[in-house]
Amino acid sequence: MMGFLGRLFGGGEPMLAEAGARDTAAIAALHAASFRRGWSEQEVETLLLDRSVIAHRATVGAKFAGFIMSRSAADEAEILSIAIAGNRRGKGLGRALLTLHLRRLAALGARTVFLEVDEHNASAIRLYSRAGFHEVGRRPNYYPKAGGKPASALILRRDLG
Ligand SMILES: CC(C)(COP(=O)(O)OP(=O)(O)OC[C@H]1O[C@@H](n2cnc3c(N)ncnc32)[C@H](O)[C@@H]1OP(=O)(O)O)[C@@H](O)C(=O)NCCC(=O)NCCS
Repeated sequence: MMGFLGRLFGGGEPMLAEAGARDTAAIAALHAASFRRGWSEQEVETLLLDRSVIAHRATVGAKFAGFIMSRSAADEAEILSIAIAGNRRGKGLGRALLTLHLRRLAALGARTVFLEVDEHNASAIRLYSRAGFHEVGRRPNYYPKAGGKPASALILRRDLG
């Protein structure tokens, strides 16, 4: 029987898996489409080959649909980025990737996870707060805005297990 996510995604069941160097081009393209300052393929490849970095990807059929990436040091991890392809947002895929990623970080020994998010990024803030993150700090004027006041970065934290 086709699962709930399969019905939402029009028949293609999303697949979540660890990402590796073969996903470099797809991650760079999605990152560039999702953020004001995109990562080059070389930056993405350097991250994916870094032993302190782990990444997961979502695919639907043959299509790349999203990724999440974090870097760890001792028992702390920082989520570096998460993005879902524009036409697949709002269907629970971000939540599914974040949940899997946090489980993996916990299994690898992380006890605390941090991230930064634009104060105006409502969908990301909702995703993180529903996943148990809370605000522990703010960096004012952190994200430049075309023709407007720069936005603050919220620093969010979640303790694992
Ligand atoms: C943020 C992002 C990763 C969320 O992924 P997603 O697959 O769309 O999120 P989900 O469908 O799992 O939804 C997660 C929560 O966000 C909410 N949400 C989704 N889109 C939303 C929107 N446009 N406005 C407000 N809330 C929204 C959902 O309702 C859900 O909360 P709920 O369970 O309480 O209903 C995705 O929107 C994205 O790629 N954005 C661009 C890149 C980005 O901003 N990344 C975060 C950088 S810190």
